[in-house]
Amino acid sequence: MQEWALKRREHEEKIALVPTMGALHEGHLSLLREGKRLADHLVLSIFVNPLQFGPAEDLKQYPKTLEKDLNRAEECGVDIVFYPKTGDMYPKDFQTSLDLGALSKPLCGAARPGHFQGVATVVLKLFNIVQPNVALFGQKDYQQLRIIQQMVKDLNLPVEIKPMPIVREDDGLAMSSRNRYLKTDERQAALAISLSLVKAQSLVDQGEKNVEALVKTVHATLEETKKLKVEYALLCDPKTLDPLKTLKLPALLAVACRIGETRLIDNCVLR
Ligand code: PAJ
Repeated sequence: MQEWALKRREHEEKIALVPTMGALHEGHLSLLREGKRLADHLVLSIFVNPLQFGPAEDLKQYPKTLEKDLNRAEECGVDIVFYPKTGDMYPKDFQTSLDLGALSKPLCGAARPGHFQGVATVVLKLFNIVQPNVALFGQKDYQQLRIIQQMVKDLNLPVEIKPMPIVREDDGLAMSSRNRYLKTDERQAALAISLSLVKAQSLVDQGEKNVEALVKTVHATLEETKKLKVEYALLCDPKTLDPLKTLKLPALLAVACRIGETRLIDNCVLR
């Protein structure tokens, strides 16, 4: 992979990379379509990265739909699917990883210790292997995107990070590989998540300026259904992810919930 990539770079041909863990849905495909537009060569990586899963998380059951993924990749004009084995990415003597700062601490970082360290480490490896000029990341994983942007800046990586908007189902549910874990009633309950974000924006539109009042409405909307457990619902500075005490727009409203065994995240930038 790296040999091919270095040859392309030698010829000044542009490479776009879309890193994924597979089980592709429309969200992933939107990144691929934009990647195709931005570069001469489009690389899709599919790697379920064990380093970013906690011991009690869904690494073993993470959905695998390789046949389908390959068909969809072809439809989006992917030139290369990079699909490494775990042992090739992490040989037995693997021992180096990244130390992250403040961006990795709040929100999902609090509930998933080591998660973002695992993400940053694998993304840095993928950048070195695939040598992309541009890499695309979804705002669905807003904190992940911010951490990657910061890593690129801090470590002077020669890659442009292209943020991409959240793709949703018609009823508002943010697309996620984990949505397929949801039973019918859970899928229905999950709609409260995107609804709570819409409600918050409409309150802001009506002039609400109080952070507590906004967060309270979000909680109330989420907790209307007993099926859903809120892990966090917070307003933060969209750049630093520091919690907001007073409303300053744009503001990131980020939500994480558990529905049964399934953990779902969503967010919007209030304007
Ligand atoms: P994965 O969850 O497969 O997501 C791959 C990319 O697709 C990420 O950039 C994610 O933000 C984006 N994405 C997922 N759902 C989306 C949606 N509904 N709308 C827009 N974009 C969406 O994120 C990962 O994998 C991993 O952590 C990875 C970066 C590959 C490192 O292992």
